[in-house]
Amino acid sequence: MAAESKVLVGVIGGSGLYHLDNLTLIKQVTPETPWGLPSSPISICALPSGTQVAFIARHGPGHAISPSAVPARANIAALKSLGVKAVLAFSAVGSLREEIAPGDFVLPTQIIDRTKGIRPSSFFDGLSVVAHATFGDPFSNKFVHWLEGRVGKVLEEHGQGKKLHTDKTIICMEGPQFSTRAESKMYRSWGADIINMSVLPEAKLAREAELGYALIATSTDYDSWREHEDAVTSADVFKVLQDNAALSRTVAATVIDELHEAAEEGHILTEAAGSMQFSILPRSE
Ligand code: ADE
Repeated sequence: MAAESKVLVGVIGGSGLYHLDNLTLIKQVTPETPWGLPSSPISICALPSGTQVAFIARHGPGHAISPSAVPARANIAALKSLGVKAVLAFSAVGSLREEIAPGDFVLPTQIIDRTKGIRPSSFFDGLSVVAHATFGDPFSNKFVHWLEGRVGKVLEEHGQGKKLHTDKTIICMEGPQFSTRAESKMYRSWGADIINMSVLPEAKLAREAELGYALIATSTDYDSWREHEDAVTSADVFKVLQDNAALSRTVAATVIDELHEAAEEGHILTEAAGSMQFSILPRSE
């Protein structure tokens, strides 16, 4: 059985996913970090096996925090301070591809950043050292590939025809307004497959904190690129959100025990561990 006292897995819930299922709440903690308080109290919960997991609602318990205002540095720092090694993040996304239907799940492996310079995105800001994290592979690929079969199986068994798409590119835009039709088409021409407002700076900060990080993206809409269809509205997103959240909870409940063991053993997190070792530039005299 997994060691009971360690919290090695952190789950970040996105829009619609404000709690996990079938867990016993052990305590709620709100660690004060040098970057402020996390989005929500962090629930430390136990699975029936005794495995513990930490859960944060990215947009706050009542969804009051807009994507641009999420205290991502505090969220990642707070999870790190609890001993977390692997972060499993969930996010609602728009689809930029016909084959990714609303309701489908996606495991992206690449990111295009449209929030650069707008959101604080480094723990090193304002410090008297310069650090350049490696970010060519912005997710922890071993962790992502580890998830593929497991998430695929949950969708086969419980997804009622919903598909899992892998090796996709997510573009992270600044909200809160959705994209124009011209932007939506441009992102497609850039090679982006899905779009959200939240994967950054979270993924960058997880890398700087040497945490394994994977995103399970849940598609809610076709954004605004389809010629003869209305552009996406919040109502479109909300329609699919509840179903996606229920399936996301099933995915989380299915993988957390094994993920805890894998995080303890470390084999799916080798890219994250020690990755910052040579990232801080030596100071010249
Ligand atoms: N989240 C869900 N749908 C989205 C869209 N179309 N654009 C940006 N973020 C989203």
